[in-house]
Amino acid sequence: MVLLVSLALALLLVLLSGKRLRTAPGPFYLCAALLSLAVVVCAFAGIRFPPFVTAWIWPVLARGALAGALFVLVMVAGAFPNGSMGARTLMPIRAPLSILAGIFTLAHNVAYGKTYFVALFTDAASLSATTLLAAVCSIGMDLVMLPLWITSFPVVRKKMHAKAWKRLQRWAYLFYALLCLHILLLTIPNALRGRPGYGLTVFVYTAADTAAHAAAHAAAHAGADAATHAGADTTAHAAAHAGGFPQPDLSGRYLQRFRRRQSWDLRGYHRICYDSGRHHHGHPHHCI
Ligand code: HEM
Repeated sequence: MVLLVSLALALLLVLLSGKRLRTAPGPFYLCAALLSLAVVVCAFAGIRFPPFVTAWIWPVLARGALAGALFVLVMVAGAFPNGSMGARTLMPIRAPLSILAGIFTLAHNVAYGKTYFVALFTDAASLSATTLLAAVCSIGMDLVMLPLWITSFPVVRKKMHAKAWKRLQRWAYLFYALLCLHILLLTIPNALRGRPGYGLTVFVYTAADTAAHAAAHAAAHAGADAATHAGADTTAHAAAHAGGFPQPDLSGRYLQRFRRRQSWDLRGYHRICYDSGRHHHGHPHHCI
């Protein structure tokens, strides 16, 4: 249920404030940072909440449920067909959604790391095999997520070379896979014990991860086909694989070439339009 509540909150955010999130994300980041700071302070102060807060609000913010729900939206965004309402709604705000998810993830890291990292490094035997593996997996997730998260901020992104940025963003697929593994390790034992809600969590994350990888492959092949027809070099294929939090598929240079040929499969390069929310002129830098 907590996952459903979190998914509902994430969807409400997208539907009610998607446009503002795209044009002026600052206040959203500030709110997320303040909520996350409150989580960290409460976790360290060991504050005890009333049952309602413990059951519904704390898990949404501290257990990673809202962060996960936002990542789920980012992951499934690419799976919607081009031009569909899902794509039009989610694609332009993947970057701010993943930045928000990253902020909530930091709070989750501190709130849970405070117990589980301490146990991992001081008394690993006290953790079950699956929790131990999940904690180790979360170190990998942090290592992959932090550079992706930092470089998702437009101010940092603009300072990077487009190719280097895209190459880095490909690591997002590893992050999604590790996230799925983290969740499966932590939830499957509970799902097998018949604890309510855990089966749904397993289903949602597995489906989202599968959708993200399938969409990446579909985009890669559409981009590669278009590139081959255009006589463009094979880096277009690689660029199409360039996943990531905001996940652009082809550079503006290719886009301009492709645009002149009407009959091609447009799927590969439409995404860049969604990602940047801009039109495509000149150097790839302007497009991401
Ligand atoms: C990039 C870092 C991380 C991400 C994206 C992440 C994400 C998540 C998500 C989405 C959930 C499922 C929440 C739900 O729907 O109930 C979760 C659960 C959990 N995470 Fe993380 N996590 C991260 C790091 C960590 C770390 C560092 C620890 C501790 C060492 C940790 C420990 C846990 C535990 C114990 C649960 C299960 C909570 C429960 O259901 O009782 N996570 N995490």
